[in-house]
Order: sequence, then structure tokens, then C-alpha cells
Amino acid sequence: MQIMKTSQKIKAYIFYLLFIFHLCNGEEAIDCSGRCACCIDEEFGCGTSPGIHGDTSCLKGSVDTIYGHRCKNPCRSNCLKCTQDIGECFACKPGFYGNLTNCVDSCSIRCIDGTCENDGRCTCIQNFEGNKCDTCVQGRYGDNCEHTCSIGCIGNTCNRNGSCSCLHNFNGQNCDVCAANYEGSACESCDDGFYGKYCSKSCILVDSNCLKCKRDDEYCMKCKNGYFSSNGNCVECGINCLERKCDPTNGRCTLGCKAGFWSDICDANCNLNCSSCGQFSNGRIYITSSTNTALAALVGLFATLFMCTAAGCYLWNRRRSKPKENNSEIQLDQPETERAYEQLQRQTSEPTYRDVDANYTVLPM
Ligand SMILES: *[C@@H]1O[C@H](CO)[C@@H](O)[C@H](O)[C@H]1NC(C)=O
Ligand SMILES: *[C@@H]1O[C@H](CO)[C@@H](O)[C@H](O)[C@H]1NC(C)=O
Ligand SMILES: *[C@@H]1O[C@H](CO)[C@@H](O)[C@H](O)[C@H]1NC(C)=O
Repeated sequence: MQIMKTSQKIKAYIFYLLFIFHLCNGEEAIDCSGRCACCIDEEFGCGTSPGIHGDTSCLKGSVDTIYGHRCKNPCRSNCLKCTQDIGECFACKPGFYGNLTNCVDSCSIRCIDGTCENDGRCTCIQNFEGNKCDTCVQGRYGDNCEHTCSIGCIGNTCNRNGSCSCLHNFNGQNCDVCAANYEGSACESCDDGFYGKYCSKSCILVDSNCLKCKRDDEYCMKCKNGYFSSNGNCVECGINCLERKCDPTNGRCTLGCKAGFWSDICDANCNLNCSSCGQFSNGRIYITSSTNTALAALVGLFATLFMCTAAGCYLWNRRRSKPKENNSEIQLDQPETERAYEQLQRQTSEPTYRDVDANYTVLPM
């Protein structure tokens, strides 16, 4: 009988425990099993409330997520704070918002610290914006707003995939290539050969021989081969330019002048009696060409040396071969050889080219 009594007691106790458990549905995360464990200030915030007989009550309320007097009930779902009596939620856990009945909405993962206001608004992390931080700030795109819209996008705005409407000088899905006739890192200038506000006019309209012209002026800056730009027009290289070739920017004859002419553009005559002169000599220096002059000087030098040596040997031999002859003969002979020697010297030292510098006249250009 004693045993039966004990088992009945145990049964009753277990039933009681189950009943309590059913009512309280205790939460795993917070252990409220100790006395007043889940009251604010624990023992010090714990006491008897009028009207709740023989019960321990949390006089200052329960810790977050818990409500009730002795059941220590968890607040519903994502609720952080709920009323002591019936557990009505009045604040959601960090990271949640919305209907306080369940705080079922999550703050955007792009909210700084993951927290948001009751309406879900928050301060967004870098490059994101919008009530739910689900759009990129202007000028950015990509899942993480990590890309910048192309500079060719109108208004610096683009779609999620980077596509946009292009400025007139850009082209392509993402407006990242230059439109036809445009060039430059920002497609800011016209391709060679085009001009006008929209780089749509051909420089041929400025001059049929023009390769490159000013963008907003009918002015040719670069002409095709054989021409040069003079005041914005293409002028043929001078007729006295060798091979008719000249610097396309200023017309200077690049290969020199035809014989008889000089100056940058070979339009000046060499001085009188001068058949050929240096391009930049003011018509004076008499040359055929620089290589010929050097060659002539070298040949002249060797010829002189050779003749002097020959004359010297001749004289010496004459003296040696006629040692017994009398002085008169030798004296007769000497002037003769000296004359020959002098003549040779005159011949070799006579200038190959005449210096006309003495009385030149600079011709008007
Ligand atoms: C909150 O949710 C509950 C249950 O889903 C619903 O009955 C109630 O109308 C909602 N309140 C608001 C303000 O939406
Ligand atoms: C990019 O997005 C725009 C607008 O959302 C769409 O029209 C276009 O087809 C997309 N382009 C690609 C390559 O997916
Ligand atoms: C050019 O040659 C002629 C005849 O040889 C001569 O009379 C004249 O003085 C020369 N002129 C110059 C500038 O050397």
C-alpha cells in the first residue's frame, strides 16, 4: 500500500510537471529554471504581487524575449520584448521588423549592423540604397554594386547588368565603345578625317587633299603626301623640292632643293654664276652636294701629296745621277726643275671650285 501511494505521488508530480511545461513551453536558449532567474535583477526584481496569490512575480518585468510571472514564457517568434501579462510584443529582435505579432520580416542584409527600423528602413552599406537597400547607388551596378556604369551612359545610370542608354559619342550594350568617327579615352575627339559637332563631316569637304582637320573650323591640319597645310588649306609641295616631297605641316622641302634653288621651300635662286647651293646657305656656298665636296677635297689632298713626292724624287735623282757634271750644268738645270715643280704646285693648289662669295648678291626671296 505504501508503495502504491508513492507511485501515485510520483505520477501526480510528473503530471504536474507536464502541465507546467505545457503552459510555459520554456525556451532552450535562456535557462529560466532557477528561482527568479528570468526576472530583471533576478532575486532583487522578484517578489509577490498583489492579486497574484502565493506566486513569484517579476516586479520589474522579465529579461528580453521572456514574459509571464512564473512560467517564464518566451515571447513569440522574433520578438525581443513582450508584455508581462499576455506576452504582447512591442519590440522585435535585432535584424527583424514588421508586424509585431511575429516580427517575421528580416532587415536587409545590406543594412549596417543588420538592424533596421520598425518599417525595415536602415542605413545601407556602401554602394547600396533604397528602403530595403536593394538598389545600387547611381553610377553602379552588379550583384554587389561592385561595378561602375560606363562613362558613356546617359545620366551616369545603368541597369543591373550594366546596360544603359548611350551618349551620342558612345556605342555598345554598355556604352563602353566609341561611336563611329569618334576616338579618345572618353570618345571626346573625332577620328582623323572627320570634323563637326558630331564628327560626321569629312575633312574632304574642307580640302580634297586634307587628312585631318580642326573639329569646329574649316581648317585643315594635315594634308596627304605631296601637300602641306598653309593657313588651313592644302598646298602642293614646291616644284623645286626634290622629288616634290615636303614636311606636311610647314612645306619645308624634306629632301632638299633642285639645283639652282635654296630656302625652306626652295623658292629662291642660288647666287649668280652658282649652279647649285645649299638649301639653307642664303644662296652662297657653292657645292654640288655634300658628299661630292668631301670627295673632291680628299682627291685634291692625295693628288698634291703624290705630286710633291714625285717632284722631290725627280730633283734628288737628277743630283745623284750627274755627280761629275759641272756646276753650270746643274745651275742651268735647277731653275728648269724648280719651274716644273712650281707649275705642278700651282696646278694642284689651284682651287677646284671658285669662291664666289666675294661679290655675291642675295636675291630677294
Ligand atoms: C499582424 O499579423 C496578424 C497575424 O498574421 C494579423 O492578424 C494582423 O492583422 C497583422 N497586423 C497588421 C498591422 O498588419
Ligand atoms: C540587361 O538589362 C536590360 C534591362 O534590364 C535588358 O533589356 C537587356 O536585355 C539586358 N542585357 C543582357 C545582355 O542581359
Ligand atoms: C659671273 O660670271 C661673269 C662671266 O664669267 C662675270 O663677268 C661676273 O662678274 C660673274 N658674276 C659674279 C657675281 O661672280
